[in-house]
Amino acid sequence: MARQGGGVREGDEQLNALTIHRPDDWHVHLRDGASLNAVAAFTAAQFGRAIVMPNLKAAITSTALAAAYRERILAALPAGSRFEPLMTLYLTNNMPPEEIGRAKACGFVHGVKLYPAGATTHSDAGVTDIRHVYPTLARMEELGMPLLVHGETPGAQIDVFDRESHFIDAVLAPLLERFPTLKVVFEHITTARAVDFVGNARAGVAATITPQHLLHNRNAIFSGGIRPHYYCLPILKREEDRIALLNAATSGNPRYFLGTDSAPHERTTKENACGCAGMFTAHAAIELYAEAFEQAGRLDRLQGFASHFGADFYGLPRHDDVITLIKESWVSPLSYEFGNGTLVPYRSGESIAWRIASAARA
Ligand code: DOR
Ligand code: ZN
Repeated sequence: MARQGGGVREGDEQLNALTIHRPDDWHVHLRDGASLNAVAAFTAAQFGRAIVMPNLKAAITSTALAAAYRERILAALPAGSRFEPLMTLYLTNNMPPEEIGRAKACGFVHGVKLYPAGATTHSDAGVTDIRHVYPTLARMEELGMPLLVHGETPGAQIDVFDRESHFIDAVLAPLLERFPTLKVVFEHITTARAVDFVGNARAGVAATITPQHLLHNRNAIFSGGIRPHYYCLPILKREEDRIALLNAATSGNPRYFLGTDSAPHERTTKENACGCAGMFTAHAAIELYAEAFEQAGRLDRLQGFASHFGADFYGLPRHDDVITLIKESWVSPLSYEFGNGTLVPYRSGESIAWRIASAARA
């Protein structure tokens, strides 16, 4: 019972196939070198485009570095792939406002990422005080270059579960007032508070939501022992937060759209006394969102969230071609090769309820 264009009736329990316009991933980590070669094909297999995070070991802080990284990504794609990497720059205290002009003019940089220094993986070169970047933000506002925000305040004095909320009050709310037309994506929101904040924010503010934050609460990190493969940043939150995120994602409100935050780390760096943050979901991304939307009885709204709203926000065309998901479970591999090591994917060795049946390319 395939239906075109996500036109599924509410509460349709018989639905076992769904055809939607090709989706995009508005937040992904593709890494570099052998790691890039290991993961790029997963994202390219299902998404038409992806916003590629710039937090490499040597951060992508200029248009020139983004151009070279883009070439490495294109070289890592399977032959014939039409996947389009959408590049981002990593905002530093010293990024000159002129860099924004270069980024805008090149046509392949679609956002500038704000990492508060110390907030997450490879964020040491991030911004130590938002006031340092006011001139650069002003230029972004002028040129319509979106600011993509890792919305957490780091620091030992702030409870890890309150970092997103703290960031809203201390940084984001004042920023939106100071730059009233700056386009802002609040990346990977994780709390009911952030859902409300984005829902009530001025025009030009949107948010991405990951599959893990739709499917899990923080109990997943501690179920029967400590589970490093459920550790990501921002960390999973309470059940009421998960429900608020699921309601937002399935609401049909175009401010909320898909961003996996798929973030691969080699197995031993996660299964470690001080494990890295990040979950790899690119091998099953759209399938996992289908599970979440099905859980909410709103598969009819997957297409807007996955394939339309992000493109509209970034001012890019929606795809004409489609993918078809069918309700047929498969077991995720235990691991994938990843450079000299292995990568443990989300749901490793466990079943995933949906799979992609066909992915026609126009
Ligand atoms: O869990 C995360 N992993 N959160 C981030 O913000 C960064 C990412 C990574 O690069 O591994
Ligand atoms: Zn990320």
